[in-house]
Amino acid sequence: MKALIRLTALLAVWLFASCDSGDIVEERQTAAGGGRAVKLTARVSGIRALGSRYVVSLASFKSGDNYASTVRAVSSSTEDGTDITLILSPINSEVSTVEFAVTDRLRQRIVTLSRIAVEDYPEQLDTIRMDLGAVDVSAFSVLQSGVFNMACIQCHGGNGGSGAAGLNLTEGQALPQLVDVPSTCREGMLRVASGNARRSVLHQILSEGGENILHVNHTEILTNQFRENVVELRSFIAEWINNLSVENRE
Ligand code: HEC
Repeated sequence: MKALIRLTALLAVWLFASCDSGDIVEERQTAAGGGRAVKLTARVSGIRALGSRYVVSLASFKSGDNYASTVRAVSSSTEDGTDITLILSPINSEVSTVEFAVTDRLRQRIVTLSRIAVEDYPEQLDTIRMDLGAVDVSAFSVLQSGVFNMACIQCHGGNGGSGAAGLNLTEGQALPQLVDVPSTCREGMLRVASGNARRSVLHQILSEGGENILHVNHTEILTNQFRENVVELRSFIAEWINNLSVENRE
């Protein structure tokens, strides 16, 4: 009898969890509800350098929706180099991707660090594993892996060479080649002007209205690659720039 009551309670939790509206800040779920689970392991660093407006979490998304359906958040006080395990369960049938992502507090996707498509895994597999190794979630690292590596390096240094406009956006190069470096395209401007997104070529060419600043339409590049979260991404980039000070470039 006791077991039956417990089962009913679990079922209630599961039903409640599976029809949530997506606007609860953090929702804790247990793996006990049946259905599939995604289990993520990673060694996380940089979370304190991300800023309190953002949350790093394992999150499930329905196709076309920029609000996570369910999330398991990494604690914002996680020390650098901590091994974490997150389990997201149950993954209901409407979920198309499960992502290790930076979201805002409303659970909107800002930048995806790693993603799996649920349909790629056989249905009989109960637990899908995401073993990510070391992940740096500080703001610039997130831009590097979630944006530059995805949408920029094919023209900016990814094939060797110095990159379009003499700008190499590959790992290790991007930061020193952007921050407080004179633009080769716009005279008198900086690629990234510490503390001032509006005066930064990077921000201008990715923003709405920036379509014609350069010969290559960078606004379109960003929008095509990040259809659902382009607005959030732009403000994340602007905030990264605005938080840079000349003395403290990270
Ligand atoms: C299809 C190739 C291509 C892709 C993809 C691309 N770029 Fe560019 N980028 C260029 C070219 C070409 C220029 C020079 C444009 C010009 O001369 O008007 C440029 C110029 C720039 C500049 C100005 C550099 C300066 O010194 O002023 C920045 C900043 C930049 N790109 C950032 C990015 C970022 C960030 C991304 C990814 C979101 C990206 N680019 C993706 C081709 C590309």
